[in-house]
Amino acid sequence: MEKAGLMKNATLRQLKVFESVARNLSVTRAAEELYLTQPTVSIQLKQLSDVIGLPLIEQIGKRIYLTDAGQALLKTCREVFDGLERFEMLVSDMKGVKAGRLRLAVITTAKYFIPRLLGQFCQDYPGIDVSLKVTNRERVLQRMAENQDDLYVLGALPEEADVVVEPFLENPLVVVAARGHPLASEKAISAQRLAEEAFIMREPGSGIRLATEQFFAERGLKLKVRMELGSNEAIKQAVAANLGIAVLSAHTVPLAHGSEDLVLLDVKHFPIRRHWYLAYPRNKQLSVVAQAFLEFLQREAKVIGDKYLQGIPGLNATPAAATQVPARKARQKK
Ligand code: PGA
Repeated sequence: MEKAGLMKNATLRQLKVFESVARNLSVTRAAEELYLTQPTVSIQLKQLSDVIGLPLIEQIGKRIYLTDAGQALLKTCREVFDGLERFEMLVSDMKGVKAGRLRLAVITTAKYFIPRLLGQFCQDYPGIDVSLKVTNRERVLQRMAENQDDLYVLGALPEEADVVVEPFLENPLVVVAARGHPLASEKAISAQRLAEEAFIMREPGSGIRLATEQFFAERGLKLKVRMELGSNEAIKQAVAANLGIAVLSAHTVPLAHGSEDLVLLDVKHFPIRRHWYLAYPRNKQLSVVAQAFLEFLQREAKVIGDKYLQGIPGLNATPAAATQVPARKARQKK
């Protein structure tokens, strides 16, 4: 029979080494990150698997995979290190200083706004370091499921998770075309007419792509996708080069009437009104630092946002709507 308390022989250092290998899926990168030699990392890993009595990683060719035990241990390590980090922040808070690291993961469109907010936040709290990961909706949701960050910014509510969400600013979707496009001078263009055009789309996993597909699917229309690109900026370039039209967040087209090369099309039912949401898993214990950011956002987003939204097309100067949407719990998985 297994002896109880097997982890009492594992050291914090071994867990740190394992967490780094598991996160990087590489002994070399873990060694670099921790300023250790590769043999030291391998020895620590081996000792930890001996204590546990099961292999934690598998090497197939040059790639490293986590075993089931390895995956379970990675999750536990994150909880342990999160707890210790929260404790450190609590202690510095008790000493009168808010200090520590704030980890944010945000969808691509939020990168236009969040850094402005962070500028002010970091000035108010000089002891707080911030790491900001910008990626698409699918990957933000994945990071949330893996508990990799403190707080997340999404463009639509997650369907399946038990998550606390708080809308903080409008994030409307608009249709852009190259200046000189035949539709540029038309008014109240129908969805049917628009669907005849070639589209430049974001990659699968993108929230904008999902919203665009939903909009046309609800009207029984299928889009002609000419090109898929993984970045809003690249899409703007492709649209400007007349390769097609695109649906983008108005935040990516910040000049009141598009930019030199781009125009906004006047399409019925556009802009699609959406919001950015600050989100975190309901069962997550927020650190002192994450709590400070949450409160800062509740206080400042509207003030900073009101100014910022004035330059955003498609909003008709009604930024207050952002605060009218009640915070609510995302649907719970059945
Ligand atoms: P995306 O999300 O980066 O996944 O497309 C952006 C948004 O929904 O605003």
